[in-house]
Amino acid sequence: MSTPRVTARIYVEDLLHRGEELIDREVELWGWLTNRASKGKLHFLHLRDGTGVVQCVVYKGDVDEATFSRADHLAQETSLKVRGLVRRDARSPIGFEIGVRGLEVVAEPTAEFPISPKEHGTAFLMDHRHLWLRSRRQVAILRIRATLCRAIRDYFDSRGFVLVDAPIFTPAACEGTSTLFAVDYFGEKAFLTQSGQLYMEAGAMALGRVYCFGPTFRAEKSKTRRHLTEFWMVEPEVAFMDLAGDMDLAEDFLCEIVARVRREREHELRALDRDLGKLDAIQKPFPRLTYDEALAILKDAGKDVPWGEDFGADEETVLSEKFDRPVMIHRYPSQVKAFYMKRDPARPEVALCVDVIAPEGVGEIIGGGQREDDLAVLEGRIDAHGLPREAFGWYLDLRRYGTVPHAGFGLGVERTLAWICGLHHVRETIPFPRMLEKIVP
Ligand code: 4AD
Ligand code: MG
Repeated sequence: MSTPRVTARIYVEDLLHRGEELIDREVELWGWLTNRASKGKLHFLHLRDGTGVVQCVVYKGDVDEATFSRADHLAQETSLKVRGLVRRDARSPIGFEIGVRGLEVVAEPTAEFPISPKEHGTAFLMDHRHLWLRSRRQVAILRIRATLCRAIRDYFDSRGFVLVDAPIFTPAACEGTSTLFAVDYFGEKAFLTQSGQLYMEAGAMALGRVYCFGPTFRAEKSKTRRHLTEFWMVEPEVAFMDLAGDMDLAEDFLCEIVARVRREREHELRALDRDLGKLDAIQKPFPRLTYDEALAILKDAGKDVPWGEDFGADEETVLSEKFDRPVMIHRYPSQVKAFYMKRDPARPEVALCVDVIAPEGVGEIIGGGQREDDLAVLEGRIDAHGLPREAFGWYLDLRRYGTVPHAGFGLGVERTLAWICGLHHVRETIPFPRMLEKIVP
């Protein structure tokens, strides 16, 4: 007695994960035509379905006349349902191909797809971002991004941290007044959040260990490969933690999320030609340098930075090139850091802060440190930074009622992803980048 063959609908990634067991089975794949080639009695259709790309081979002898000639005239981005048999294909990155038995066109494009397999300029691609997302590289990057975000959440969720969502509308600056986006809030001036940190400090005093994860906004007037005006930041904050504990947390966190992404998205990382050895090198301990030690390294490299000045992209690149893993630079001069940073009691001219600089030129991916927990000192800092004390009344309350040492940091998702993927520019790491002069699409 023979069992009827059931055609299973599968995704391309099923071939990657369990292709062996699907060999010679008839399957259906639904997706879009990304490329096509012909050779005599064979048409090669490259079908993408969001999880990957598979070659579907139409052989004249396997299909009826109409299907064979149709397969020779399909336009790029035609949506399709393909039925066929799974076969091994040693040359394919996924290891399998489909021997086509039937084709169903869902929709034919009404015009030629603007992004052909040939090279296009970045400006053109950015203007067509909504379509560019379909390309193999962009799909790989966004899949890696989703896994990175999951790894970030899982890291904190599995270690007793409580997710506390920070507001987007805020009454005051957190990271300096020069990068604020002002909005009209019922006749009052409000700002899009630059960081959820101040709210996480309130959260930490209520819940001990907290984090927020959401979009943040900076009116950055700089056109660099590292700056977005809207980016995603994860910000843990912990009561009773000092700078040393903060650095340990940042180090452990980075090792864990990089390892997980490397493990779960190897196929996508390979599609981006990422050197996986560089990711495997991301192990504890990370080098830790004081700002003063970093200055000495820069000096040796021919870059003389006067004490008290912040590092720019060039300095960060020089420092990161010395190491094969992220480097943690702590105790910057307080004068270049935010008002809330606690000063080192042993050396009040420096702050108990840390920046983590990623390897390979991406620059700073983490900024954080220990917070000023003394009411009077903090009041003085708010005044010294020219910030309106009224707007910080609630924040000062945190120092009035049971203040404790506490610390945290913020990790920018896009720069981290650019580093993990080996991308030159952050614009490809977020589905719809927002930058100076870029808000469409
Ligand atoms: O160093 P930042 O400004 O730190 C803060 O906002 C702290 N309040 C965080 C905290 O302690 N809770 O920003 C943190 C990180 C940077 O290291 C960088 O990765 C990212 O946010 N970032 C940006 N990413 C893209 N575009 C920009 N314009 C960015 N500005 C900061
Ligand atoms: Mg910073």
